[in-house]
Amino acid sequence: MFATGNSHKLGEARAILGPVGIEVESYSGPEPKETGTSFLENALIKARAAFEATGVPAFADDSGICVEVMGGAPGIFSAIWSGGRDDKTNRDLLLAQMQDIAPENRAASFVCTIAYVSEETEISFTGVWPGHLAMTASGDHGFGYDPVFIPEGFEISAAELEPEIKNSLSHRYMALMQMRQYFADPTA
Ligand code: IMP
Repeated sequence: MFATGNSHKLGEARAILGPVGIEVESYSGPEPKETGTSFLENALIKARAAFEATGVPAFADDSGICVEVMGGAPGIFSAIWSGGRDDKTNRDLLLAQMQDIAPENRAASFVCTIAYVSEETEISFTGVWPGHLAMTASGDHGFGYDPVFIPEGFEISAAELEPEIKNSLSHRYMALMQMRQYFADPTA
C-alpha cells in the first residue's frame, strides 16, 4: 500500500508498476510531520505512520531535487522551498536563486527514496535521476520541478517528455523497480 496524499506520485507509481502486474493501493491518512534530516528518515516516518495506522504493510516516497552548487538543496525541502507548497512558486524561487549560475554549473538530480515497512521488515530503495537545471521553465507534463529539470541525455525538460518516457527513466522508476526486484527475490 502506497502511503501518499500526492496524486502525481500515486499516478506515476501506478503507471510504473501496473505494466509489471503490481496493483498499487493508496493510503492517505493524517500526514505525519516530516522531521527527518534525510530522504530516508522522512520516507520511513511516512511508511511507519501508515503501517501503524492500518496494520497493512506500507511504502512511502520521499523525494526532491538536489542542485550541486547549492550543496544539495532544495533536497528534502523541495515541496516547501518557498515556504508554501505551490509548485510554481517553488520553481520560480529556485530559478531566481540560480539566475547567475552558468549552464555548465547547473548540475542537479532528482532523488527518490522509497521506504517499505511491515511487521517483519523495514527496507529502503533509492533512485537518482541525473541532469541539470534549466534557465527557464518549459513543458506541461509531470509536476513539481519537472519544467525546470533537463534530464541527462536530453535537451528538453522532464515536463516536455511524454509521461511514459519520464516513467521509464525517473528517480521514482528506479526506486520502484528496485522494490519490485526485492519482492521478486528478497535474497538477491
Ligand atoms: P515530498 O512529498 O516531501 O517527498 O516532496 C516531494 C517534492 O519534491 C515534490 O513536491 C516536488 O516538488 C519534488 N519532486 C519529487 N519528485 C518529483 C518529480 O518526479 N518531478 C518533479 N518534482 C518532484
